[in-house]
Amino acid sequence: MADHTSELVPFTRGVPPAEVLLVDELAKLTTQVLEESPVAVFQYAPIGRNRGDERLRAELGRHHGVDPDRIFVSNGSLQVLDLLARHLIGRFGRSVLTEAPTYDRARQIFERHGGQVTGVALRGDGADLDQLRDLVARHTPAFFYTIPDFQNPAGVCMSEEKRRALVGLARQYGFLIVEDTPYRRLRYRGAAAPTLAELAPDRVLTISSLSKVLSPGLRVGYAIGDADTMVQLAELAEGTYLTASPLAQAVAARALEDGLVERSIQRAVTFLAPRHDAAVEAAREAFGDGLLSEPGGGYFVSALVRSDLTEAEFLAAAERAGVRLSRGSAFFPDERLPAGSLFLRLPFQALSLEAFRRGARALADVVARRVR
Ligand SMILES: Cc1ncc(COP(=O)(O)O)c(C=O)c1O
Repeated sequence: MADHTSELVPFTRGVPPAEVLLVDELAKLTTQVLEESPVAVFQYAPIGRNRGDERLRAELGRHHGVDPDRIFVSNGSLQVLDLLARHLIGRFGRSVLTEAPTYDRARQIFERHGGQVTGVALRGDGADLDQLRDLVARHTPAFFYTIPDFQNPAGVCMSEEKRRALVGLARQYGFLIVEDTPYRRLRYRGAAAPTLAELAPDRVLTISSLSKVLSPGLRVGYAIGDADTMVQLAELAEGTYLTASPLAQAVAARALEDGLVERSIQRAVTFLAPRHDAAVEAAREAFGDGLLSEPGGGYFVSALVRSDLTEAEFLAAAERAGVRLSRGSAFFPDERLPAGSLFLRLPFQALSLEAFRRGARALADVVARRVR
């Protein structure tokens, strides 16, 4: 049997490719920050309801068109989500609704904080709102967690019509929406729909991150919501890790002031658009109607395929065919896949056009049982 392990196509993590990180400019800005305020960045930040570096919150406020009082900064958006889950689950009940599939780490966080997670099937234009209505009519959830722009793992973008209908349901049935938007600015095709927070600021807590638009290594993520909730998150944060890193926040603030974030977004969009287009074409050829959507941005395309193999058998056959996949079931509440289907998340951002095509064709062979 051929040994493919050294050349497996890695359809695994959503990590930005090195080519889009503007490391020289980041290093220059960091040096400037170190020269200008060495004591502040190497000292503890003030405590007592510290929602984050003031310059950074002012810049983020400008970027999002919101009052900085409504912003809380943490060490990456996953940590924001953890604090938010701690704050919301229990206070507003234990039921949490998510898209199915959803971001696996988010699902794990909700479960760790005692959430009972129920999935709402994700369609090509967003969650199935009939299913959502049935669920919320029976029981008000603590919140509905959604990734409306270029969803991880499916790549789906929620249509404007669905966004408006979703916030209508949130108002009618009195539930909160948590929208997670790290990929929103990475749009390669089409026009952006309004954010859920723009449509219903009173019903929506937003979380976002500089990981995909500047640098994941800086670990800067943030929440936008009502000022009281942001203070409560700061109190939870202080009891856990005091404050977010002063150095990382100062560099992030400078990168926003200097326009480096915008240049970095432009660089990512220019570099990733051809990868997106080629990935959509290759995935369409390989999976036909199984392709969940043509995302128009972000990092992922995905497919639901029918197979009589178990997931473990499918993953093993994929490796024999030269492809490493994440376990698709991990993206579903209760790890339960739709009956008779397997879910394939295909991150395209870090793969050459050739590698993506090779990987998609190999998976099509596994689906068709040409590989055993
Ligand atoms: C939807 C979503 N939310 C949150 C995160 C975590 O990002 P951060 O680096 O800001 O912690 C990711 C990372 O891949 C993600 O895809």
